[in-house]
This record gives sequence, C-alpha cells and structure tokens, in this order.
Amino acid sequence: MNNWILREDGFDVKKNLAYEGLFTQGSGYLHLRGSLEEHLSETPQNQTYMRNAGNVTVEVFKKLKAKWGAFIPGIYGKHPVFVSQLINLPWFAGISIEADGESLDMEKCSILNYSRILNLKNGELTRTFEWKTAKGVTLKISFTRFISSSRKKLCCQKVNISADKSCSLKISGGIDADVRTSGHDHFASVALDLKSANSVHCIVKSDIGDTVNILTQFSGVDAKWNYIAGEKNGELVSNFSLTPGKELCIEKRTALTTSRDLEKEDEAAILNSAVALSYSALLNESAQEWEKRWNCSDVQIDGDDNGQIALRASIYHLLRCHVPGDKRVTIDAKGYAGDAYFGHFFWDTEMYLLPFYLYTDPERAKTFTDFRIHALPAAMKYAEKMGYRGARFPWESDSNGDECCARGNWQYGDHEIHITGDVAYGIAHYAAALGNDGYLKKEAATLLVESARYWLDRIDWREGDNYPSILGVMGPDEYTPISNNNSYTNRMAALNLSLAAKFGKEGGATEKECAEFDRAAKLLPIPRISKTLVSQCEDFEKLADPQFDKLWKNRKKAFAAQVSQERLYRTRCSKQADVLMLMVLFPNEFTKDELQAAWDYYVPYCTHDSSLSPGAHALTALKLGLLDEAWKFWEATGGLDLDIDHGGAEQGIHIANCGSTWMVAVNGFGGLKSAMDTDTLTLNPVLPEKWKRLSFSLVWKGTKVKVDITKDAVSITNIDNNTILVEVFGKLQEIGPKSHQRFLQ
Ligand code: BGC
Repeated sequence: MNNWILREDGFDVKKNLAYEGLFTQGSGYLHLRGSLEEHLSETPQNQTYMRNAGNVTVEVFKKLKAKWGAFIPGIYGKHPVFVSQLINLPWFAGISIEADGESLDMEKCSILNYSRILNLKNGELTRTFEWKTAKGVTLKISFTRFISSSRKKLCCQKVNISADKSCSLKISGGIDADVRTSGHDHFASVALDLKSANSVHCIVKSDIGDTVNILTQFSGVDAKWNYIAGEKNGELVSNFSLTPGKELCIEKRTALTTSRDLEKEDEAAILNSAVALSYSALLNESAQEWEKRWNCSDVQIDGDDNGQIALRASIYHLLRCHVPGDKRVTIDAKGYAGDAYFGHFFWDTEMYLLPFYLYTDPERAKTFTDFRIHALPAAMKYAEKMGYRGARFPWESDSNGDECCARGNWQYGDHEIHITGDVAYGIAHYAAALGNDGYLKKEAATLLVESARYWLDRIDWREGDNYPSILGVMGPDEYTPISNNNSYTNRMAALNLSLAAKFGKEGGATEKECAEFDRAAKLLPIPRISKTLVSQCEDFEKLADPQFDKLWKNRKKAFAAQVSQERLYRTRCSKQADVLMLMVLFPNEFTKDELQAAWDYYVPYCTHDSSLSPGAHALTALKLGLLDEAWKFWEATGGLDLDIDHGGAEQGIHIANCGSTWMVAVNGFGGLKSAMDTDTLTLNPVLPEKWKRLSFSLVWKGTKVKVDITKDAVSITNIDNNTILVEVFGKLQEIGPKSHQRFLQ
C-alpha cells in the first residue's frame, strides 16, 4: 500500500460527491473540488434554490450527482439569509470528449479499468480508464491536473488519449460562469470572450463589487479551435482524428486573479510566464514546494496503513487550505471544498486548526491570530450593535470579521459567545508556542483589552450572588442553548480577562480596569454537580433524560435529525465535547478524578453529532489511559472524510476534524503537552498496540526538533542551532544543537 495515495477504484455515481470533496486540490490561494473534467449529463450546476437556513447538522442537502466548486478565499457575496458566503466561482476545469459522435460520460458509457488517485505528496490528481465506444473503439484516457503550489494562481491540466482503432474526436472546454453557490447567483455581471485563438477570458463581478478574472488556454497540440459563446459560458471546440499507435495530448492551463489580491498580477502574464515550461516541469516545481511543507509537517506511523493514510489526508488538506501571507482570511469550516458552511470561520480556527500550524509552521499560524486582530474593528462594532462595550467576535465570521450566522439561527449567533474567549485563547497559545510575550503586549494588547471590556459588560451580578455570572449562553454543546454559567465559556472568559489584566496597560486599559478584569476572572464560577463532577452549566443535571434507546433509532444519523428541536433543547444530550473540551484545554486545572468523573458522566450523553467531538474524546481517553476508547475515537476522527459510503466529504472537508486528527496523533498518542501548559517541550507518548513507530517534526518556541517514538524509546533530535530543554517520561534533559537524545520508557 502506498501511504501517499488516496484512491478511487471504479466509478460509482453515488460516491461522486464524496470523492469530489476528498479530492479537492488547492494552493491556499485557489481551491478546486475534484469534479470530473467532462462532467455528468443531466447534472445542471445552475439550479436556483434556497437552502434550509436552520441547523446545518440536520440539513438535508439538495442531492446532486456532482457539485462543482472553485473557491478563492476572501471572495464573498452577499446573501439575504446567510448574510455573506464564499462564492463558488465559474468552473474552468471542464474538458469534454466526443468520440465518433458519442459523448464521454462516466455514468452512461462503457468504462473499464477506472481508477483515480490523488497523490498527497505533490497534490496531483490522475484519472485513468478505458472507454469502449458504441462503435467498438477502445480509448485509453488519462486526465491529470494540479494547482501549482509555486504559482498559486495557476491550474494545469492534461488529457492523454489513445485508441485501438481510428476514430474522430471532438474536444471542448472553456469557462462556465452559470454556476450557483448554495443555489444562489452571486454574479452581478459576467463577461466572456475569446482572448486569442486558443484562450477564453472571463470576468465576473460579484454582488459586492469584487472582480475575478479567469483566463483559460488550450495548448500542447496543433489545432484550430472554434469559439462557442453561450450567455454565461464560453467554450473552445476542436476536432481531431486519432489513429492507433498515436497519442493525443492536450493541455489546458488556467490563471485566476482578483481585485482583492495582495499581489497584483495579470492572468495573461501568469500563463505567459509558464508557457515555456512543460506540464511535468511545472509539476516538479510545485512538488518541490509540497516537499518543503511535508518536511516540516509529515507524521509517520509504522504499522497502521489506514491510520497513516487518514492522517496524511488530513495533513494534505491542512497544507492545501492555508492562505500564505494573507491575514484577511483563515480557513472555513469546510476547508474550501464545499459551500455547506458558507465559507465562514468559526472557533474551529483557534481550537482545531491553529495547533497544527503553531507546532509545524508558526509563521503560517500567525496569519490566523493576525486575522482576529485585523477583525477587531468589526468585533467592536458588533459589540456596540449588541449593546455592549468592547469587542465581541462573531460566531461565524467572513473575511470582514462580520457576523454571518444565518438570519434565523439567532441561538448560535447571539449566544455562542465563547468565541470571544476562544480568540483570546488562540492568541495566548500563539504567544506561548513561540515564547513571544511581545505579541500579547504589542499587536494583541488592544484586542485583549477590548474583548475583556466586553466580558465585563456581558457579566451579570445576580441578586444574592457574591460572584459574577455569564447568563444565557450556548457553550460548545449546541444542544444546550441559553444556559447559565457554562463552565467552558466562563473559563474562556476568565482566561481572556486575566490576560487583559496582565497585559492590559499596553492595550490602553487603566490600572483600575485591569484590577476589575482580574477580579472578574478570579470570581467567574465553574459550576459543579458534586465535589468532583464539573457541571456543563447550571442545572445541566436537571434537564430531561434524552432517552437515546427509545428515540435515537439510527445511530449512523445525527440524533438531532431524529427528534424535534424542542426535545433536543430540553434534554441532557450534548452535540459534542463541552466539559471534556474544557479539560482538554486546561489539563493542569483538573485532577484525574475530575477528568474521570466528567468522562463517566458526559460520554453517555454525547451524540458526537459534530465532527469536532471524536478528537476531543480521543484526547481525553488517552489522558485517562483508556486505550480502547481512544482507539475507537481515533478511528472515527481519522476516517471521517475517507468514509465515502457514509458521505465523507460530500459537502466539503471536515477541516477541524483534520486538525483533530493531527492533535490526536501528536498530542494524544505522541503525548506532546501544549505550550499553554508547559514551557518545556514535554512528551509522554503511549503508542496504540498496532503502531510500531510514530515520528514527526515540531517547532517548539522557535527550535526545530524531530521526534521518533517506538514502543520502548523516544528519540529527540535537535536540528536547530540552540540548546533545548526537554522532558520525556518525567526525565529532564538538555539537547544541544544538532544533537540527539534517546529516552527509554
Ligand atoms: C459545531 C461547531 C462548529 C461548526 C463548524 C458545528 O456543527 O457544533 O462547534 O464550530 O459546526 O465546524
């Protein structure tokens, strides 16, 4: 088994959407779902419809056979219900083939030996198959494509065709701007024309005024292309005669630019600068970029091929999604691979994505924390709009930092205020992982103060209580809305307040204010059911029993989809880790007995209806030494997008879950403590039975190390130029520059 390859064998139309999502390619700047070049017939991409504005977890999506997706982070359109959403751009990857008048269609034609592979190492997608036409000709076809990692606005495609008998071919392709995002048309205008004998140009203007320019060009073959103009699409068509023994190879290259680009380039210049380079030269160049990134982020598992491929698939998507050098965006919940979550940014950024970048490529992590600083003015306006001082971050953010929670989904947007504390946590994590308090004192100081001001104003002092309360919130568990003193939210708010108390003066807070921040931070309660059992919120135990045995008939489907919302909200069921998430993030503050008590109490109530849940459970199980449980949750985490039979990545990549997969491997089995919890690089690994070896690279406070864990030893190699202090299995040891140390169990 090649552990760098994701593979589809045989075409099954029912699985098409899931593979489209899983095979998404991208450069950070540009992302393309793995849709078939020639498309499927009777699968229009211009259907206008309104998606259900309710709960995405239980939404039944319009069932299409294929869903094109081309996204550039930051290109949003406005929507009457979803406020703003990432626009699905014109489809530019189409290449249709007709042989002797028969159109290639994976569903309708006689297709043999079909396979498609995504090479995770270099991001190339290759589809090969044989097509037996009605006229008795067998054509061998291979489509390959990649989005260049070195020329991030460039997509390269190639099709190779050969036949056992002579036949006539008609090849066509261009740009189709008649596409929708969640059923909505975001293009205020579409202009298409023939740019040269072999290229089509398209300019779309979004409904908020951004422009996207797309130039696509056929090359690699001598041909006369005819231009066929549609209302919102433009195609080049050419005829070829294919004879046995001769292979036809056609390339299609596309460059995209937008009015939002930080680096202004011209799409024609992008194509021109690559014109002298072959497909394979461009692929090599891009592969070198991938290699650099894999070198600092690969995690190797020996002894578990499935685990290895799942983990690499997660890392591939994390690498693909990050937009380098652009602090105006982070990564949306579907990893720029589908429009299900409208291209919005959630707490997923800080809690599930940031750690991977922090410990493998901290410079990239900085764009996430800088994004929140950049979005501070919007967060201040939002606080004001809601009637508070300071800064309140949106639950669902777009690139402007505005609240984009769908109108009507008030319970999330209004009440899931832990996001503001999560933002502060992310910033503190960045500073801790880099050993850079300067970030808290300078760039982030105002954010810490303004968000702390919000908390002070949001707090209620109830009559008779000698402590402050945060009332009417939804914690991470979205099935318990409008609860009081949610432990997770309170702890995050307290962290935010204490950071502001410490660094607030630099951010413009008075001494008196800092004292108030400090007092509130110290007094915010963590409610308890008993001495050892932390309560998710006040009165959690008084909620009704969820009666899972009676009501949750199909365990493969979300519980929320099988009961009414009012039942969901009045019962003691949780969507995802809440108290356990708190304990994962603040491990030094809870005893093992408390962790065990929380596990025993909350796990039976948890539905894991969110993909953010299994990872947190795996991490907790490992802390408790529950290896079988940890393994079960690890498999659920890593396998999610690969689980084609259950829909996998149909609606996009569960990118937070990709981050979880990395965390379970590195923080969980690898036992790496977070920089939030220790200054010393600390590892207490526990390998699952199957794993013979686990190796990964890390950056710890600026020092690069390689970690290699086997069943009986841990080796750490300091590949940097300074000495680093490490702690493994409780033993402290300094490791000098370019040297290594082995620790026995
Ligand atoms: C989860 C949230 C998450 C969001 C986006 C929801 O289903 O409950 O915690 O932030 O999805 O991933």
